[in-house]
Amino acid sequence: MDYRELLESIVADVRALTAQGAVADYIPALANVPRERCGIAVATVGGAVFSAGDADVPFSIQSISKLFALALALQREGDDLWRRVGREPSGTPFNSLVLLERERGIPRNPFVNAGALVIADVLCRRYLQPERAVLEFVHRLLGSTHVAIDAAVARSERLHSDRNAAIAHFMKSFGNLDGDVAQLLDAYCAQCAIAMSCRDLARAALFLAADGVQSPGIAVLDAPAARRVNAVMLTCGAYDASGDYAWRIGLPTKTGVGGGIVAIAPGRLAICAWSPALDAAGNSIAAAAAVERFAAATGLSIF
Ligand code: DON
Repeated sequence: MDYRELLESIVADVRALTAQGAVADYIPALANVPRERCGIAVATVGGAVFSAGDADVPFSIQSISKLFALALALQREGDDLWRRVGREPSGTPFNSLVLLERERGIPRNPFVNAGALVIADVLCRRYLQPERAVLEFVHRLLGSTHVAIDAAVARSERLHSDRNAAIAHFMKSFGNLDGDVAQLLDAYCAQCAIAMSCRDLARAALFLAADGVQSPGIAVLDAPAARRVNAVMLTCGAYDASGDYAWRIGLPTKTGVGGGIVAIAPGRLAICAWSPALDAAGNSIAAAAAVERFAAATGLSIF
C-alpha cells in the first residue's frame, strides 16, 4: 500500500486548521514555532515510510517522550511499575493536581504529568543521566544517533516548572517519589525537550504496532506489555480528550504540547502528525484532524 498521495491530500486538507488554536507559550521557547507548520509520516511494519508536508522538520516532542520513558521503565521494572502509577483515565488536564490528594500521591496513569514524573523518578534511580537513557533508547529504536535534546527548550521549561515541582513535592510527601525533586525536574524537562520529526517519531513508535518488536531481532517489550502500552495510550494518551480521540480516530494515540500526535494501528503501522497550534486540552488541532482523516480513509480504526 502506497500512502504518499493520501498523506499529501490530508496535509492540503488540514492546513487551514493551522490558523485555529494557540501555540503553547507556558514553555516560552515553544512560543515562536511557526503555527503554519504541518507534517505527517507513516511507518509500516513492512519497513516502508511515507510522508508529506513538514514531516522532516524536528519539533519538541514534549509529552510524546512519556511513551519512550514508559517503555524504558517497563523494560527495567516490569509490572512492579504499576504499584506506583495507575492505568485509568484521569478526566483532568495533563498538569492537574486535584486527584493526587484524594488518591494518596498515586497518579492515575503514566501520561499525565504526575505519572510521567513517577516514571522519571524510576529512571533517575536506574541511570546517572536518565534523560540520556531516554535519548539513547530513541537512538536504538531508530538505529541512528541524529536525534538530540534541544537544550534551550529544556532550560526554558525548567525555569518555568513550578507546577511540575508542586506535583513532584506533593507526591514525595505521600512517599511516591524517591529522589531529589530538582534533579528529577532537570531530567524530566530534558526528556520532554527531545526534538524529532514526524518521520523519526513514526519510525521510533513502530514497536508498538508490532507486538513490541522494533525490527527483526530487536524486541523492545514483550507482546503483552506492548499491547498494554497501547491500551493506556487509547484510554489516557490525550488526557481528558482521550474519549473524544477514541471516538474520532479509534487508535491508541499520544499527544504533546509541541503539537505532535503519534498513533498506532496495531499490526499495521505507526503514524505521526504535527502542527503546533493546540486546542484547550493542549492537543494539536490540525494534527488530530490529520490522523482522524487518515484513520477514516484507511479504515484502520481498531473498533
Ligand atoms: O510537563 C509539561 O508540562 C510538558 N513538558 C509536557 C506536557 C505535554 O506535552 C502535554 N501534552 N499535550
